[in-house]
Amino acid sequence: MVEDKSENSNESEKVLDLEDIPNVGSAIAEKLRSAGFTTIESVAVASPSEISSVAEIGESLALKIITSARKLANIGGFESGDVILQRRRSIGKITTGSKALDELLGGGGETQAITELFGEFGSGKTQICHQLAVNVQLPKEEGGLEGAVVVIDTEGTFRPERIAQMAEAKGLDADEVLKNIFVAQAYNSNHQMLLVDNAKELANKLKTEGKQVRLMIVDSLTAHFRAEYVGRGTLADRQQKLNRHLHDLLRFGELFNAAIVVTNQVMAKPDQFFGDPTKPVGGHIVAHTATFRVYLRKSKGELRVARLIDSPHLPESEAVFKVTERGIEDK
Ligand SMILES: Nc1ncnc2c1ncn2[C@@H]1O[C@H](COP(=O)(O)OP(=O)(O)O)[C@@H](O)[C@H]1O
Ligand SMILES: [Mg+2]
Repeated sequence: MVEDKSENSNESEKVLDLEDIPNVGSAIAEKLRSAGFTTIESVAVASPSEISSVAEIGESLALKIITSARKLANIGGFESGDVILQRRRSIGKITTGSKALDELLGGGGETQAITELFGEFGSGKTQICHQLAVNVQLPKEEGGLEGAVVVIDTEGTFRPERIAQMAEAKGLDADEVLKNIFVAQAYNSNHQMLLVDNAKELANKLKTEGKQVRLMIVDSLTAHFRAEYVGRGTLADRQQKLNRHLHDLLRFGELFNAAIVVTNQVMAKPDQFFGDPTKPVGGHIVAHTATFRVYLRKSKGELRVARLIDSPHLPESEAVFKVTERGIEDK
């Protein structure tokens, strides 16, 4: 069970590199990376012949490396159905404040999963993040998880005043709500990635004080990456780092049974670098790692439309909600 996993976890668990796999030195690690095996997980699920050919090593060594990677990545073989059911049962959902939007998401923002909110400026991404940060603190009967929140703010758009406004609209004590939201500013993409490690330490520390972090927000996931990596030559680097970042986030979600909510801004007008406005920055890597991808667009006045894209188990459909002074509400 997820709770047990975090109980046993090392307080200062660090993000592992390929070099942390026994028998993988810098030379092998480099060959693996340039062939696209950038994470321990990717090595763990590769075949011995693949690893053998890209790393130019014998198959028996390749097998050893894969076996070690599986152990490090916690990728086991088969699990019995009851164990899987147990884990699925521990999945929590956080209400967005709108029944229509909750329904679109299959019940609300889900733990152990990444929800990506993408859309143009002003489409409501940050508002939904703020609302979830309030709602996760509600009791279960009211759609919350009685949890705390970690926010990685990359654009300086976190507003405690807005949290207070939303909290008061629900009859909550604004100061108490704000005390459960832990915000860090990320100055660049490297710092942003490091903050996930810091968040793990914080979540472990809070746990000893009886507080569970059940929501992690990264607003925006892609802004720093987009600003720092311009031009074609650096695109592969950017994707590699973004991929690793997303896997770190997902691991955080699994470790703490927390929902991961990330935002991704798309341009209203296609530009020469980023093309189709409905294609968010990060492209297929974000698409494959995010479990729920929600495309948001503005409608009349307070109204916003959310569309679920590429969900494996929910139909592609739309929900209309509104952003008011009280927060996210049904239309
Ligand atoms: N206090 C508020 N009262 C009513 N509406 C608000 C309030 N704050 C923000 N909004 C609405 O949310 C919009 C901004 O949405 P936001 O989530 O910040 O966009 P983005 O998708 O760029 O993150 C504003 O244009 C406004 O419509
Ligand atoms: Mg925003």
